[in-house]
Amino acid sequence: MLTKIYSSLLLLAAIYSNAAAKPVALQCEHLNNPLGIDALHPRLSWRMDDPRQGARQTAYQLIVGTDSAQVAKGTGTDWQTAEIKSQQTLVNYQGKPLHEFTKYYWCVRQWDKDHKASLSSVASFETAMLNMDQWKGYWISDHKSIDEKAAPYFRHEFSVKKKIVSARAYIVAAGLYELYINGQRIGDHRLDPMYTRFDRRNLYVTYDITAELQKGKNALGILLGNGWYNHQSTAVWYFDKAWWRARPAFCMDLRITYSDGTVETVVSDASWKTALSPVVFNSIYTGEHYDARLEQPGWNKPGFNDTTWKDVLIRPAPSEKIKSQTMVPIRNVLRIPVKAMHKINDTAYVFDMGRNFSGVSQLTVKGEAGTVIRLQHAERLYKNGRADQSNIIMHYRPHDDLDPFQTDIFTLSGKGEETFMPRFNYKGFQYVEITSSKPIHLTEQSLVGWFMHSDVNSVGHVSSSNPIIDKIWQATNNSYLSNLFGYPTDCPQREKNGWTGDAHIAIETGLYNFDGISVYEKWMNDHRDEQQPNGVFPATIPSAGWGYEWANGPDWTSTIAIIPWKIYEFYGDKKVLVACYDNIRKYVDHINYLYPSGLTTWGLGDWVPVKSQSPVELTSSIYYYTDVNILAKAAKLIGKTDDYNKYSLLAEKIKDAINKKYLNTKTGVYGSGYQTEQSAPLYWGIVPEQLKPKVAANLAKAVADANYHLDVGILGAKAILTALSDNGYADVAYKIAAQTTYPSWGWWMVNGATTLYENWNIDSKSDISLNHIMFGEIGAWLYKGIGGIRPDAEHPGFSNIIIEPHFVSGLTHFEAEHDAPQGKIISAWKRNGSDVDYHLIIPANATASLRLPKGRITLNGKPFQNTGKLVSGTYDFKVLLQ
Ligand code: BGC
Repeated sequence: MLTKIYSSLLLLAAIYSNAAAKPVALQCEHLNNPLGIDALHPRLSWRMDDPRQGARQTAYQLIVGTDSAQVAKGTGTDWQTAEIKSQQTLVNYQGKPLHEFTKYYWCVRQWDKDHKASLSSVASFETAMLNMDQWKGYWISDHKSIDEKAAPYFRHEFSVKKKIVSARAYIVAAGLYELYINGQRIGDHRLDPMYTRFDRRNLYVTYDITAELQKGKNALGILLGNGWYNHQSTAVWYFDKAWWRARPAFCMDLRITYSDGTVETVVSDASWKTALSPVVFNSIYTGEHYDARLEQPGWNKPGFNDTTWKDVLIRPAPSEKIKSQTMVPIRNVLRIPVKAMHKINDTAYVFDMGRNFSGVSQLTVKGEAGTVIRLQHAERLYKNGRADQSNIIMHYRPHDDLDPFQTDIFTLSGKGEETFMPRFNYKGFQYVEITSSKPIHLTEQSLVGWFMHSDVNSVGHVSSSNPIIDKIWQATNNSYLSNLFGYPTDCPQREKNGWTGDAHIAIETGLYNFDGISVYEKWMNDHRDEQQPNGVFPATIPSAGWGYEWANGPDWTSTIAIIPWKIYEFYGDKKVLVACYDNIRKYVDHINYLYPSGLTTWGLGDWVPVKSQSPVELTSSIYYYTDVNILAKAAKLIGKTDDYNKYSLLAEKIKDAINKKYLNTKTGVYGSGYQTEQSAPLYWGIVPEQLKPKVAANLAKAVADANYHLDVGILGAKAILTALSDNGYADVAYKIAAQTTYPSWGWWMVNGATTLYENWNIDSKSDISLNHIMFGEIGAWLYKGIGGIRPDAEHPGFSNIIIEPHFVSGLTHFEAEHDAPQGKIISAWKRNGSDVDYHLIIPANATASLRLPKGRITLNGKPFQNTGKLVSGTYDFKVLLQ
C-alpha cells in the first residue's frame, strides 16, 4: 500500500515537475501560427511557463521542419539547432533556405534551471510569395474614372475537379477589398489592406480557403472600395490630389493544392467580369452610401448570369513592392449596444451609444422601397438634442451636399427587414442621428455600434483605489485603440491622419497596454517609404504629399528614432531599430546640416498648452538630442564604433548648447521656469546630474504654485509626471494625475469623458476633438510612476525589469500588470496602517532590479537585504515606511 502511495506521489511529482517548466506562447514574427510569411529569416519567440522561484531557461534548441509529426518528436529537417546555452527566447530562423508556399512546423526544447529539458507543443508558420515574380495574376480594375462614385464588383467562376488538400487566397488591392467565395465573405478583417504609400508599397493578405471551396463550380467575388487610394472627399490635406490616386484595382492568386500533388492557380486576369455595386459611394473619410435596390442577389455565387457585366481592364501594379501584410488586422472588435434613444418624430431619431469610440454603426430597419435614411455620426449634441459636428467638421471642404461628413446614406429596397453597415469607412462618434425621407419605426435595438481598431491583444492592466485614476486609464486605452488603424492616428473623426508627434507621445502607453509591435513595424516601413533623400519626413505618415513643409520638425517626426527604440526596450527585438538605422542617421545629419549650432527651432513646440508657451527651440532641440542619443546607442548595439563616437559627441554638443542657453545653473531654472521647460529636460536626460534636485524642486514648486494643476501642452504632458516621480516628487505627480478640476485629465472624466480630449478646455472653440491620444502619456506613467514597472535598456524585453513602485499618498492600493515577452509582471501594493504590503511577480527567465522606498523591509517575515537582482518568482514584502 505504502509503496503504491509512494509511487503515485512520485508520479504526481513527475507530472508536476514536467508541468513546472514548459516553453509556451510560440510566435513567429510576433504572431500566432501566421500564414503569409515573406521574411527570409522569420523571428521565432517563446516564453517559459515555470512559476518556481529562480526559474530560468539555461538552454534552448529549435526544431523546424515540414513534417509536423516528426517535429512533435523533436526532429526538424529544415533546422535543428544544437543545445544552445542561452536565456534568449527570440531567435531569427537560420535553417535551410525557406521555400515559398510552404507550411513549416516548429517547436522549441527548453532546459530549465535544473537542466531538465521539456519540449513545447508544435506551432507553425507558412510562407507565401518570397519574391514578386511568384505572382501569377494581373492587376485588374474596371474601365471607370477616379470620379466614378459606385464601387465595382468583380466576379469569376472556375471548376474544381480533383480532391483539394489545401487552398490559399493571396490578395492585394490598391484601395480596399472584400473577398467572397461562393457567396460567403472570407475572413473577419476590416478595411484591408492596411493604408500604405501606395506608389511605394502594397500589402497582400493570405487566407486559408480550403473549407470554402467545393467540388464542381466555384465563384469568386470581389468588392473594391476607395480607401485612401482614391480619395474623392475633399479636405485640407488634399488626399484627393494624391499623385498615386486612381480607380481601385486588385490582384489575386488563388493557389489550390490537390491530393495528387498538383497545384493550380486561379488568378485575376482578363477573363473576370465587372459591374457596379449597390455601394453607390464610399469614402474612408466621410461615409458610405448604399442603395439596396441595386443589389444583385447571387453576384458572388456560381451560376449567376453575368452577361450584362463588363470586361475588366488590366492595370500596372501601383508599386514595385508587394509585401505580405504580416500584422494584426483591423476588426469589429467590440459590439456597443445603444444606451438611449430619443425619438424626435417618426423621421428623426437620436441614439446615444454611451461612450465615444471609433468604428461604425449598424442599422436594421424595415421600410418602403426608396426610403432614404441618413445616419449622421457626432461626438456631441446640440442643446436641442440633435447631432453636433461643429467640433470635428472644420477641415472638411465639400463642393456640394452629396457627401455629408461622417454620414452614411442607406436607401431601402423595401424587401422586409434590411441591415446596413458600411464596409469601407469608419468614424469617431458617440451619437448617431438618423433621419429618413419617409416614416420609419426604430427602437433601441435597431442600431448597434462596432468599436473597430487594429485588433491588438491587451497586455496590461491597472486598478487602484481611486475610480478617477481607473477611468483615466480606461479612457486612455479607448483613445489609443480608437487611433490604431494599421497606423497610429491623431483622431478617428476630423482627420484620421498618421500624426507623428501624437504617436511617439503615445508609444509607451501603447506598449504597456497592447501588443502592438506588428502595427509599429509596418508603420516604420511607411516612414522609410516617405523619407526624402535629404532625410526629411512628413508630419503625417502615410502622406499624400501634405506635411513636408509644416509641423515636421524633430518634436514630431522623431518617431523614426523613438518608436524603434521603445520597441527594442519593450520587446528586446532590434529588427526595426536596425532597419531604421540609416534613416535615423540621414534625418539627424540633415538637422545637423541645417542647424550646426546644436539648437534647432524646427518644430511646433508644446502644442495646445494650457497657457504658458515654452520656447520651440528648447523642446525641438531636446527631441533632436533624443534622436542623436538613440542613434548613438543603436550604433553601439550594432557595433558601428565610429558612428557611436561621432554621434555621442554630437549628442553632448546639443545637450551643452541647450543648457548653455536655457539653464540658469545657479537657480536650476530653464527659461522662464514653466512646467514644460522644467519637465522636458528632466525627462529626456538633459539636466546635469548635480542640478537635477534643483530643477526638480523648481518644477514641483511650479506645480504647487498652480495649485497642483497642469500648465503644459502635449510635450509637457509627456514629460511632467515621470520628471516628478523620478526625482523624488511622486506625490506631486500623483496630485496632478488625480486632479479633477480644470485643467486636468480628471476634469475631462468628471465631465463624462470616456476618451481623452484634444484640449484641456472642454469649452474650447478650436482643437477640441473628443478622441485624441496626444495627452495619453498618463496611461504609461501609471505603470512607471506608481506601479514602478520599467524596461531596462541594458537587458531589453523585460529580461531584467526595473521595479520602483511609489506608494503615493492619496491611494490605498494600486496594482499594475504587464504581460512582457517573458511573462506576466505584477506589481501591486496595499496600504496597511503605516505599512505597505507589496506584492511582486517576476516572470520566469527574468530578473528584477528592485528599488523600494526607504524604510524597514521584510520579505516573508524576515528582514530583507536588497543586495542584487531578484530572480523570477513571487515576492511578498512588507514595507514599514520611514
Ligand atoms: C492634429 C494633432 C497634430 C497637430 C499638429 C492637429 O490637427 O489633430 O493631433 O499633432 O495637428 O499640428
